[in-house]
Amino acid sequence: MHAGPALRVALACLLLCQSLPAAFAATVTPTAVTGTVQLDRPGPVIPPELYGQFMEQLGTGIDDGIWVGPGSAIPNTRGYRNDVLAALKALKVPLLRWPGGCYADIYHWRSGIGPRAQRPVTLNRWWGNKEEHNGFGTHEFFEFAELVGARTFLNVNVGTGTPREAAEWVEYITSPTNSTLARERRRNGRDAPWKIDFLGIGNEPNGCGGRMRAEWFADQFRQYVGFIAPHGGTTFIASGPDATSAEWTRTTMEIAGQHLDAFSMHYYTLPTGDWTVKGPATGFDEAQWRATFEQTYRIEPMIREQRAIMDEFDPEAKKALVIGEWGTWYDPTPGSPGGWLQQQNSLRDGLVAAANFNIFHRHAERLRVAGIAQMVNVLQAMILTDGPRMVLTPTYHAFALYRPFQGATALPLALHSPAYGSLRAVDGSAARGADGTLHLALVNLDPRTPMDVSLALPGWHGQRVSGQVLTADAIDAHNTFDAPDVVRPAAFDGARVADGALTATLPAKSLVVLALEPID
Ligand code: AHR
Repeated sequence: MHAGPALRVALACLLLCQSLPAAFAATVTPTAVTGTVQLDRPGPVIPPELYGQFMEQLGTGIDDGIWVGPGSAIPNTRGYRNDVLAALKALKVPLLRWPGGCYADIYHWRSGIGPRAQRPVTLNRWWGNKEEHNGFGTHEFFEFAELVGARTFLNVNVGTGTPREAAEWVEYITSPTNSTLARERRRNGRDAPWKIDFLGIGNEPNGCGGRMRAEWFADQFRQYVGFIAPHGGTTFIASGPDATSAEWTRTTMEIAGQHLDAFSMHYYTLPTGDWTVKGPATGFDEAQWRATFEQTYRIEPMIREQRAIMDEFDPEAKKALVIGEWGTWYDPTPGSPGGWLQQQNSLRDGLVAAANFNIFHRHAERLRVAGIAQMVNVLQAMILTDGPRMVLTPTYHAFALYRPFQGATALPLALHSPAYGSLRAVDGSAARGADGTLHLALVNLDPRTPMDVSLALPGWHGQRVSGQVLTADAIDAHNTFDAPDVVRPAAFDGARVADGALTATLPAKSLVVLALEPID
């Protein structure tokens, strides 16, 4: 391959940009990005469950957002909104997590079974003290997962529950026997048992899950898994705290390591990093745009730290790291009910999602499950609803563009990029699908400067490339019920493949996802 002008600029940048402060690099505004996709070094298969979704009994995350009940005027299938269901099926959601979150540790499963009219009304102490009518319970969750085509991730109550309550719930759900609990499930309308693919014990036990210390929680974890016996097996997940803590992870691995299959961390992106004033979802300036990405990229050293601790105890990576909750958390939409965590979703969120996916792919050897918080109407949602109306967010579109990465084989992507703040302006990931297609995702965080990308693809002989781009005019561009298509993917024809190299110009503030066809 000849070193063309773009490559020469890139080589100069490689030498300059890495040794000079970001401020200087920014003043010379280099726009060339170079790199290599290492096709001969296939990595792990990207678990589809990295694209999981979290749904909690919180605000309109489930009631109104997913579940309207069979008698609703909103078109529905046995109570589930048809519009939301269709959108989620199109997204190929691989995994659903329920009932919380903090709610898991105040949820008692018997409130959510049996005839709906007779279910108790309970108070949601964590989320606005909302009256919960429990119309969406165990049967509704597992039927919903079947309709969506997703695997299941259930969290049992440790904070206000007991091992007995958890064990009985699991028996009710999974037992094929004629036990009293299995017969009760059948009387309530479900003959065949369901499978619990992932079982979380507690949630954020240091905080809303019971203000526990790591030692106390680890001992309780051992006790719970000793009594819970899911038919058909499950992956037992030990919950981590509400922020990553090396000490907590180490204690869990020491005390409960031999009893767990996975360990879960949570991390939220707050533009300011300050829980008292997080920053607005729209109407922000470029400083907050940049700060948001700087905050989101903090997850990568956290993952590395968690991996390193798990490696000490489990060098063969038999046990998985889970990111049970991730996503943006802003100041709530002005005027929205307290504790409902409603926020708009802009182009920034779509790019935050993409940035996280690229990071997740890099760690897929150990990181095997993730759940964005949350699926509908809450925090960084895919979907917003208002009565009968529904709108898809930029985050939804980012998930849709990354669908081909589910189950593809990760490939190392070495990138040299100009800086944007303390970050690389351009980040990305690559993977090879089962049919041989090479998938490339590239994110340009710089909101003003397009980037010329030149990637070596040693050993690649195909020439056909197609792509899609997610971008918009404004950094806070977003979709509303009246203008639902302000931010949506468009065809991208700015990429070329020739002589084993790819060139493309990424628009400013964009996500570009490319599919390179192999030669037959
Ligand atoms: O997603 C909202 C809340 O954030 C969850 O309930 C809790 O686990 C976390 O603190």
